[in-house]
Amino acid sequence: MANSIDSVLNKYKSGKREDLIPLLQEIQENMGYLSEEAIVKTGNFLGLSTTKIYGLATFYDRFRFIPAGKIQIRICNGTSCFLNGSQSIINKIKEELGILPGQTTRNGNFSYEIVSCMGGCCNGPVINVNGQYHTHIKSEQIPELIKRLKYVLEND
Ligand code: FES
Repeated sequence: MANSIDSVLNKYKSGKREDLIPLLQEIQENMGYLSEEAIVKTGNFLGLSTTKIYGLATFYDRFRFIPAGKIQIRICNGTSCFLNGSQSIINKIKEELGILPGQTTRNGNFSYEIVSCMGGCCNGPVINVNGQYHTHIKSEQIPELIKRLKYVLEND
């Protein structure tokens, strides 16, 4: 873990604060989330306080501070999916998992996030489950989908 943080930091110039966002983004791509260690190291590297980094990073909803679940669901809420009912999908997933976007269930199994256009607008609402797309999804299908995913996890 520490090595991946260092290898990302090594690509940047120390003290160059305008690199903060791309740098955090790259760490997150490598590690899946921004750990406390990553924030502290980045702060030392750029000469920024951890409070300042947390403040800036929480402003962007693409950053997560806890590891994602084993199953990660991305729900498109771009204009087209929104018009096709993505909000009801979001509400159903929230209800089924009992967590908010960006959170992870206590058993570490599920997390979800709301994203903008995934490039499949005519097939919306679109969701992505661990890299696999589900199109024309309806909120009534969500409980069954979650049930199936739980079954897969239990029998893995
Ligand atoms: S708006 Fe959802 S895929 Fe484009």
